[in-house]
Amino acid sequence: MPNSAKPDLRLGIAGLGTVGIGVVKIIQRHADLIAARSGRRVVITAVSARDRTKNRDADLSAYAWEADPVALARRADIDVFVEVMGGHNGPARAAIEAAIAAGKDVVTANKALLAHHGHDLAIAAEAKGLLIRFEAAVAGGIPVIKALTEGLAANQIRRVMGVMNGTCNYILTRMQSAGLPYDQVFEEARQLGYLEADPNLDVGGIDAGHKLSLLAAIAFGTRVSFDAVELEGIGAVSIDDITLAADMGYRIKLLGVAQMTGRGLEQRMTPCLVPAESPLGQLQGGTNMVVLEGDAVGQIVLRGPGAGEGPTASAVMGDVIDIARGLRLPTFGQPATSLATPIAAKTATPAPYYLRMTLLDKPGALAKIATCLGEAGVSIDQMRQYGHLGVNAPVLIVTHKATRDDIDHAVGLFAGTGVLVGKPVVLRIEAV
Ligand code: NAP
Ligand code: HSE
Repeated sequence: MPNSAKPDLRLGIAGLGTVGIGVVKIIQRHADLIAARSGRRVVITAVSARDRTKNRDADLSAYAWEADPVALARRADIDVFVEVMGGHNGPARAAIEAAIAAGKDVVTANKALLAHHGHDLAIAAEAKGLLIRFEAAVAGGIPVIKALTEGLAANQIRRVMGVMNGTCNYILTRMQSAGLPYDQVFEEARQLGYLEADPNLDVGGIDAGHKLSLLAAIAFGTRVSFDAVELEGIGAVSIDDITLAADMGYRIKLLGVAQMTGRGLEQRMTPCLVPAESPLGQLQGGTNMVVLEGDAVGQIVLRGPGAGEGPTASAVMGDVIDIARGLRLPTFGQPATSLATPIAAKTATPAPYYLRMTLLDKPGALAKIATCLGEAGVSIDQMRQYGHLGVNAPVLIVTHKATRDDIDHAVGLFAGTGVLVGKPVVLRIEAV
């Protein structure tokens, strides 16, 4: 039962869109349950959004309205500032900084903001003994931040992997199941309202890269270094690649991988081939999956909804309830002042690669490509020509394990052969 001696935990919510309204609805629907589990009541004092007149599918009449989120953040009658507006600069950043300056704990779903400014904000918050919680920012409803910072806290984390952008996974799985080209499925995703206002955040891998950089900071005790994430979107993945990969027993995923190597921290968010029968290979539609590998626990797989009103509000409220319970952890699982500055290691770990290219169909063309690979120290595992297209010959090569540098070197040499048509597609085959 709630401890009547404990005062209510008072929230100010900035942003009344998908996530913010979800939070309002959970608090209204589960007030008693939340109080029973938190030991105190969680109440909303004031809210903010741009347009006060908008119909928001929730009764907001009991809450004070602030037109300015910075003013909301500074209100004396809130304890926790919930930032669910979005944007990595502008009002979201200004309001969080104001909240910290005013001594408020912060809960946010804003991965872009934290990927860019998370370290500085964590330093500022922790200097004042304050919290920044961000479960909803990574993989929506999946409690992956909690898993890493709490459940797996005694592990040395070896690798963090995942499919963290539901829109990309929807596009790739829909292309495969319906045999449709990228452009058509991209348009479908737009019509369904899956794409961010700037679609490149999704299909360019940026949104998922933001999420990966936050997980890497916790997993490896390093400062968030989004700029060091190798980013490659899914725009160049064709239905041919999806079909050829499927023929070989693989699926193509926009896969995030972070691992600490002998050369430094490797972080990449790129389209990869993964075995079709693996949990990641089986992941369909807009669902997210995060795979965590620790020295003591081995591998654990978390799967669930990465977006939407209910899942993201569930995650925000998990953070709020932790604060209500009195759980006080540093933003990235250890004091921000103790986070190391990572050395960025560009795809240091070797892997087999899938190379698809079009060659002029003339004697010796394939031999020239094979020679380039040999010169770059890349060994061929499989090679095949398929379905000639007039004077052109599509070619698929799967290499033995190679470093990305050696593959890039070989691809650079291809250009000088005079037999290459267009650009080769290069996809890593990830052991998951
Ligand atoms: P949204 O539906 O676009 O809602 C944004 C809200 O913020 C709106 O209510 C908007 O006001 C308000 N807002 C924007 N600028 C403002 C300003 N300058 N002053 C006051 N209010 C302002 O966004 P969302 O989908 O809820 O996402 C919110 C955050 O959660 C983002 O950081 C996003 O990346 C993150 N997130 C979202 C999801 C998801 O599934 N949607 C999942 C994970 C993380 P008006 O309504 O008046 O326009
Ligand atoms: N655009 C994101 C996605 C929303 O598709 O996963 C959740 O961050």
